[in-house]
Amino acid sequence: MVNNLFRKRKSIRKFDPSKIVPDEVIKDLLEAAMLAPSACNARSWEFIVIKNDTVLNEITKIHDYAQMIKTSRCCIVVVGLLDNCNGKPGENMWPQDCAAATENILLQATDFGLGSCWCGIYPTKLVPKFQQLLQLSANKVPFNVIAIGYPAVDFGSRGFYDENIVTWVR
Ligand SMILES: Cc1cc2nc3c(=O)[nH]c(=O)nc-3n(C[C@H](O)[C@H](O)[C@H](O)COP(=O)(O)O)c2cc1C
Repeated sequence: MVNNLFRKRKSIRKFDPSKIVPDEVIKDLLEAAMLAPSACNARSWEFIVIKNDTVLNEITKIHDYAQMIKTSRCCIVVVGLLDNCNGKPGENMWPQDCAAATENILLQATDFGLGSCWCGIYPTKLVPKFQQLLQLSANKVPFNVIAIGYPAVDFGSRGFYDENIVTWVR
């Protein structure tokens, strides 16, 4: 039986703006991220925690599909480090490292009763806009922005197994 954590996780786009996730809780989410697997153990990621209303507002101006950040009042930008694995077997695997770290954040947030929403940045035209906003050099690529907050909607729970998209090679 699948752990209920996976069934409970879903993208939350409505938060209670009167409650902001404490820094200590954010640190636990980031530790979960840092426990993710990464190619050649390169750990090609960094994290930017944003709680500043002005910067959050700028993000919603740049990213049409991240408007929920207005009510979450907090987000984490996962940043891929392009140079961590140069010339090694894990080269160019950084998007996968970032995706694994992201999923750990989402699941840990769900376990804490927090809502989250993964909003993609890489590989779209949003990358240079976020690099400019967050003053990132060219070798640091904003991968996504994750809204984190207290949900204003019920999580629910669901099941999802679909045999049609599975091939068994025996
Ligand atoms: C790579 C990626 C990019 C996404 N970008 C956005 C986004 O910009 N805005 C948004 O509201 N949701 C975004 N999502 C969330 C998806 O819409 C969501 O995961 C999907 O609809 C399934 O819903 P669930 O997360 O509730 O299971 C993104 C998810 C992924 C994996």
